[in-house]
This record gives sequence, structure tokens and C-alpha cells, in this order.
Amino acid sequence: MEKRGSFGSKLGIVLATAGSAVGLGNVWRFSTEVGANGGAAFILIYIACVVFLGVPLIVAEFVIGRHTHKNTADAYKELAPHSPWVLQGYLGVLTAWIILCYYSVVSGWTLKYLVSSIANQVTTVEDSAAYFIHFTSNPWMPVLYMVLVMLLSHLIIIRGVQGGIEKFSKVMMPLLLLIIAVMVVCSFSMPGTEEGLRFLLLPDFSKINPNVFLSAMGQAFFSLSVGMGCLCTYASYFTDDSKLMKTAGSVALIDTMVAIMSGFIIFPAVFSVANVAPDAGPGLVFITLPNVFQMAFADVPIVGWLFAVFFYLLLLLAALTSMISIHEPVTAFLLERFGFTRRNATRIVTAACIVVGVLCSMSFGPLSDVHIIKDMSFFESFDFLSAKILMPIGGIIVALFAGWKLDRKMVYDEITNHGTLHSWTFPIFMFLIKWVAPLAIGLIFFNELGFFK
Ligand code: PFF
Repeated sequence: MEKRGSFGSKLGIVLATAGSAVGLGNVWRFSTEVGANGGAAFILIYIACVVFLGVPLIVAEFVIGRHTHKNTADAYKELAPHSPWVLQGYLGVLTAWIILCYYSVVSGWTLKYLVSSIANQVTTVEDSAAYFIHFTSNPWMPVLYMVLVMLLSHLIIIRGVQGGIEKFSKVMMPLLLLIIAVMVVCSFSMPGTEEGLRFLLLPDFSKINPNVFLSAMGQAFFSLSVGMGCLCTYASYFTDDSKLMKTAGSVALIDTMVAIMSGFIIFPAVFSVANVAPDAGPGLVFITLPNVFQMAFADVPIVGWLFAVFFYLLLLLAALTSMISIHEPVTAFLLERFGFTRRNATRIVTAACIVVGVLCSMSFGPLSDVHIIKDMSFFESFDFLSAKILMPIGGIIVALFAGWKLDRKMVYDEITNHGTLHSWTFPIFMFLIKWVAPLAIGLIFFNELGFFK
């Protein structure tokens, strides 16, 4: 068995974990959800979900991972041997794999849009919707880009925890944050900024209904990467002197800031071009934005070109740092449970994801009529199953496990590093993880499934 890896520094830990959280979810999924659910009111509920549910869950996964220093499945097995809790470990691995299969498809689109914007195609096309549909419905081109990004993430994972994940995140995350900051400043200088800001900052509570709560919670879990064993696996590589609460707080803060800043990039731009609707759906960043870049900078096309190149570069970097974190829990499981080498474990995961990823990719073309869950395609079924079913269920189980099953003294020792750190956060954490998180997640989830109707 190969020697177990670990992160080399506290900064590496924060950047790698924030790299997992900050991804397509912050830009592509967040902007879609904000647009569809009415703007500022959704953002308020989203922030409440991050603070009261997301952060405690992150800490809970950190405790489980760092205490055991094992992959998710083995961590639950060690902490609760021969009990049904063990299933959560496998569920985590399964959820990560499902997400990777469709996440890589959208990551592939991002790579394609980066390449096309460099070639000055994205901001010069006549009809950006037709361009997007032409590309995604082609049976092979999106598959090719999906395979390319899978191989990129493969090459990082194969280098291990410190030499691959940490090294890559340490370079990419600062670059990503810099690009976002520059783009926010540029976006503020556009005409129509006020309307975009009003949409993002002034809540309209008439838009709120129970479904908005489930969407906000699902989005918060997806964005923070909680409930599917990814953070637990990363935490198993944390050093014993890392501070779990502080790391969780920093990751949640960075992730939320990036999501809101990307809203500040997208919506002022969207509103500056009057005929574009903010609730354009998943096509927003691939159909609407190219339009926006084109029209908003009609007088100075080179600025539109630059904006597009930076935007898709940003999206690709964000996607890659997340993809590696979804790849790792499955790889670590194969590596540690079955004794594969890292190289072979990575190969198996990459190959398995490519095979199913092809089906997800083809959901937009040749397989668009194949429905898996209700009338949803492969792609939509995978997104629905992971973000709206498996992650909330995973969230409830993690909360119950940390709040009710784990030894309270062990949790205290992990959170305070054996009493050497401040402990005032501990009772708050215990209250949130024991009561608030399971009840709130359960209520929102079962309400959505129609249990209270
Ligand atoms: N948090 C990532 C994003 O916002 O794009 C997505 C993600 C990463 C989901 C890792 C799940 C995961 F395990």
C-alpha cells in the first residue's frame, strides 16, 4: 500500500478546500438559481443556509475525516463499525462519482468556450443560442472536450495530495480570485449597473415559496461541496494542528464571496443589455453572456473579447479545482480499500466517469429523448439526483452522525485541538449540528417531496 499523503501547509489546506468549494456551482449554477428564484431574496436565504447549515456540516465532515485520516468509506467504518452508518461512507463515494460524471460535461463546455473565445468566435457569432445548441447537440465535440478536462484533472490527481492537489490549488486559486476582482471592477463600469445591483441587493419577498428554500439549500450544499464525502476526504489529509472551525469559516466565506461577486459580474452585464432575461436558465453563462459581451462592448470589441477570454478562463480554473476534489474521494476509496496504486485507482475512476459522462453529454444531442427519472435526461437526472436528493440526505446523515452518534469528547478534542483552541464555538456547533441542521434539512427536503401536503 502506498504511503498516505497529507497537505503540507495551512494555506495549502484552505486553498485546496476553497478550490473544491469554488467551482461551476458559484458561477453557472448560482447565477441560474438567483435568476430563476428572484434575486436578492434568494441570496438572503442562501446565506442563512450557508451559515446555519453549511458551516456546521463542513466542520462535521472535517472532524470525521481528520480524526480517522481515512477515505470516507473507511472513516465511517472505523467510527461506527458494523452499523448502518457505514452506508453513508459508500453513499458519499457514490454521490461524488455521480456528480463527476455530469460536472465534467459542463467543465468541457467551459474549455470549448475558452478556446472559442480566444479564437474570437464567441463574441462575434450572430446567434449565440444557435451556437450553443449546435455545439452541445453535436454527438462528438462536447464529448471530446469532456474527455480533455477529465484528463487534465486525471493528471493532477495522479500526482497525489501535496504534489498534485495542493500545488495546483496554490497557483490556481489566487489567479482565480484576481481575475474575479478585475472583472467585478470592469462590470461596475457598464451602463445599466444599477438595475443589476437592485436585482442582487433589494429583496422581493413575494418571490419566496417552499421551493425557493430547497433550491437555496441544495445550492448551498452543492457550492460548499458538503454531504458527499469530498470534504471528509480532504480533511483526512489535514495536519493535526490545522484549525477546523477557522478553516470551515474561511472556506465558506471565500465560497460565498466568489458566488456573490460572480453575480456582480453577470447581472449588471445582463441588465446592461436590455433584452436579456435574468432567468435564462442554465444557458445563462453560455448563451446570454456571449451576447452580453458582444453588445455591451460593441464600440470596443477588443474589450468584449478580453472579457470573454478572462471569464471562461475563470470558469475553467474554478471547474478544475472542483473536479479534482470530486475525483479524489472515489480514487482514495479504491486506493485504500482495494490496495490499487494511485495511478491505477485514478485510471479506473477517470475511465468510469468518461463512459457515463458520454451519456450525460449526449443528453443534449442524440440521447435527448432518453428519460431516466420522470421526464429528465441523463444529465438532468444526475443533477437532480445529486443536488436535490443525495446531498440533502447525506447532509441529514452527517448531521445526525456528528450530533448524536460520535463521542462528544472526541468531537470537542478535534474542534479545539485537544483543548488548546478557544472552545466558545463548540456548544454553538453542537446545537446547530444536533438540532438545527437535521430538522431544517429534513423539513425542507420532505416538504419538497410532498410529505406535508
Ligand atoms: N462545490 C463545487 C461547485 O460549486 O462547483 C461542486 C462540487 C465540488 C460538488 C465537490 C461536490 C463536490 F464534492
